[in-house]
Amino acid sequence: MELVNSVTKGMRPYPMEELARIKAELVKAGKPVYDFGTGDPKIPTWPPIRDAILKAIPLTSQYPSVKGSDALREAQWTYLTKRFGIQKIPEIGLIPAQGTKEAIFNIGLCLIGREGKKHLVYPDPGYPVYRASALYAGGIPYPVRLTSETNMRIEPWKLPADIQKSTAAIWINHPHNPTGANATYDYWQELITWCHKTDTILLSDDCYVDIYNSDIDQNIISDPKKDTRPLTPLQFSSDRVLTFMSLSKRSGLTGYRSGMIAGDARIVNSILQARANFGVGSPDFIQAGAAVAWADENHVAERRKIFTHRLNLAAPHLRKLGLLDGMPDAAFYLWCKVPKSFQGQDVKFILALAEEGMITSPSSWLSEGMTGYFRLAMVPDDKSTEEAMNILTRFVEKHA
Ligand SMILES: Cc1ncc(COP(=O)(O)O)c(C=O)c1O
Repeated sequence: MELVNSVTKGMRPYPMEELARIKAELVKAGKPVYDFGTGDPKIPTWPPIRDAILKAIPLTSQYPSVKGSDALREAQWTYLTKRFGIQKIPEIGLIPAQGTKEAIFNIGLCLIGREGKKHLVYPDPGYPVYRASALYAGGIPYPVRLTSETNMRIEPWKLPADIQKSTAAIWINHPHNPTGANATYDYWQELITWCHKTDTILLSDDCYVDIYNSDIDQNIISDPKKDTRPLTPLQFSSDRVLTFMSLSKRSGLTGYRSGMIAGDARIVNSILQARANFGVGSPDFIQAGAAVAWADENHVAERRKIFTHRLNLAAPHLRKLGLLDGMPDAAFYLWCKVPKSFQGQDVKFILALAEEGMITSPSSWLSEGMTGYFRLAMVPDDKSTEEAMNILTRFVEKHA
């Protein structure tokens, strides 16, 4: 007897939950744990955000609107204009989201099947929700393996002609989780041209767009052709383009669930109607805190300094061990090769390393069949990072 459908039955345990289980076992055994697993940095929330939330908790609870408060929408527009030069024009629509995860999942329900197109193209390795979204929407997942030959970027113009024709939407994620790869001005241009030519909706997961090397803050150039900060495709065109942005990495508000969808107003207006059914209105007090977060850049610059410092701290150790080739372009991850003695056995490697107290994510859990890599999310503080690098060094030398 089938009590759930085949998509639900086929879901792999969500990778982050698997990591939590391993960690709990270590804690139970009384071992110190250095957790580089989940991309959820534990940096205290910028106080004005907390204050705004606390002040906005009402005496009487009411349903929030899915469209979002005027104050939040204004703060989001101002951010888009200041950060990317995107103007508030009728061709561009914007709606808040309860973090980007739900928005990434739910957009599949709105797009897959349009014009008879059933494929959803997405990067592999990459965020696992793209695939789940395609499956639950009755679509066909089409992962594209990223390689260093294309600088970890999908080149959809090289896909088989029938796939190009039947792709409803394509997910692009730069800065990329897990590799940290970024895209260039020329890449975005070429990609948008392809999307227009093939009538494909470009879905840009811009979750890490504000997590870049803090040195750039000393010399910001707003001309997108010269800007060394990550770009969003919405700077190039709004036609068939949607960006998904989040306060989770920018402001560390992972627990509050706040983000936005912005782009082609024709699509945004339609999905607004759909989202009224999804139950994704953000509580008003969270929206109040989110408005404060989008309006301030200083706390984000402080966070960038912390991540840049941690990446610089860990990278030399990893390079010395032969596990890391170069620095990531952006985001706060290090995408490392598993040691030679564990070649093709990433899960075995990370489990053995976890026994020593260092938690990481194997490529198998972040991809569809890659076994040669593991990811460090630079979540622990400097001291813990140093200690973990010592554990890793001892471990690699012992298993050489
Ligand atoms: C690539 C990517 N996209 C989206 C998300 C979802 O972030 P949130 O729902 O917190 O905005 C994450 C979270 O780690 C991510 O790594």
